[in-house]
Amino acid sequence: MLRWDCLTWNQNQTLESSFKLEGKLGILGGGQLGRMLIQSGVDFNIAFKVLDPDPGAPCSSLAEFHIGKLTDFDAVYKFGSDCQVLTIEIENINTDALKALVAKGIKVYPQPEVIELIQDKRLQKKFYQDSNIPTADFILVENANDLKRHADFLPAVNKLGREGYDGRGVQIMRSKADMEKAFDAPGLLESLIDFEKEIAVIVSRNALGEVKTFPPVEMVFHPVQNLVEYLYSPANIAETIAAQADHIARTIVDNLGMVGLLAVEMFVTKEGRVLVNEIAPRPHNSGHQTIEANVTSQYEQHLRSILGLPLGDTSIVSASAMVNLLGEPGHVGLARYQGFDEVLTIPGVHVHLYGKLNTKPFRKMGHVTIADNDEKELRRKANFVKNTLKVIT
Ligand SMILES: Nc1ncnc2c1ncn2[C@@H]1O[C@H](COP(=O)(O)OP(=O)(O)OP(=O)(O)O)[C@@H](O)[C@H]1O
Ligand SMILES: [Mg+2]
Repeated sequence: MLRWDCLTWNQNQTLESSFKLEGKLGILGGGQLGRMLIQSGVDFNIAFKVLDPDPGAPCSSLAEFHIGKLTDFDAVYKFGSDCQVLTIEIENINTDALKALVAKGIKVYPQPEVIELIQDKRLQKKFYQDSNIPTADFILVENANDLKRHADFLPAVNKLGREGYDGRGVQIMRSKADMEKAFDAPGLLESLIDFEKEIAVIVSRNALGEVKTFPPVEMVFHPVQNLVEYLYSPANIAETIAAQADHIARTIVDNLGMVGLLAVEMFVTKEGRVLVNEIAPRPHNSGHQTIEANVTSQYEQHLRSILGLPLGDTSIVSASAMVNLLGEPGHVGLARYQGFDEVLTIPGVHVHLYGKLNTKPFRKMGHVTIADNDEKELRRKANFVKNTLKVIT
């Protein structure tokens, strides 16, 4: 059995929350975020177990692997029962099972109540409203017919309350005609923000209440697919905007009282306001570059926060860009990586492949981090990587 003493770092402080990790750390979800979490945890001698419905999930060969449905009470409860600490890499989890595990004495971080709030964009929006956190104006709608009564609210964005991700579950409505395609499920209508930039701040909080943020990053979305196409760190924004974003992220994590890592996606408006778009209580696409380009990676920071360890230095080591490696349109089947050798010759380039056997159009198959302190060179290299490295069959 692994014995690893979390307390050695500071014996004198009152550490109600610290504990010895003697057992296993369970991850609910076996995707790429879990994979990179395991990669980071190897340095801390952590023994992981993972639950995912897909036998070929990116984590399947890296840890004690269990196949099961994350939304199924019994599967989650049984999986978590012999863990000391349980965390998530995806939000769509059976939270009743998590609550039952907490009652059994298992540490579940982020807490099930936080996951529940974030599972539902409607609850998220009400939380921002109640906590005075700036966000786009919105109206809750119960179904498509209900939505159609709010033509005066256009132009707007119709969002599904639950289970939307990667832009699915989000659609822009500019005209009355667009309202015909409304989601027929509980959701919301949100004012369409004519934003200048989309940025994100990753914040973490440990059980002692220590909070640290990463510097804001800037995201550039694929115009059709609604997936992050490029990310730049640090964001090219004024100090005052960065300070607002940092303050908002800290306020949210404190108000939630959550333990773990929280990614806060925000819009910067043309008038210089910062509005929260959505939050995710786990490592996030907008923090991949921290592995190479910050002193502490988002993955290590998540582990530190859920294990009651001191949080790490989030400083930037190098300016960087991140390019998501998506399955090439028109290619379905066993994946091949064209241009791999070519991009590896470029100084500052680091390729991460997620271990997915099969590709399909726009599937996230990996990402590339490019570190370069020269802004023009960074952009040039990011474009080169984007145009050279392709996932094909
Ligand atoms: N109110 C808004 N005004 C303008 N654009 C918006 C608005 N809400 C969302 N968008 C655009 O749609 C994208 C996806 O929205 P959102 O982040 O809510 O969806 P998601 O599917 O949960 O996202 P993710 O891709 O992070 O999984 C945003 O990143 C932004 O580009
Ligand atoms: Mg989003």
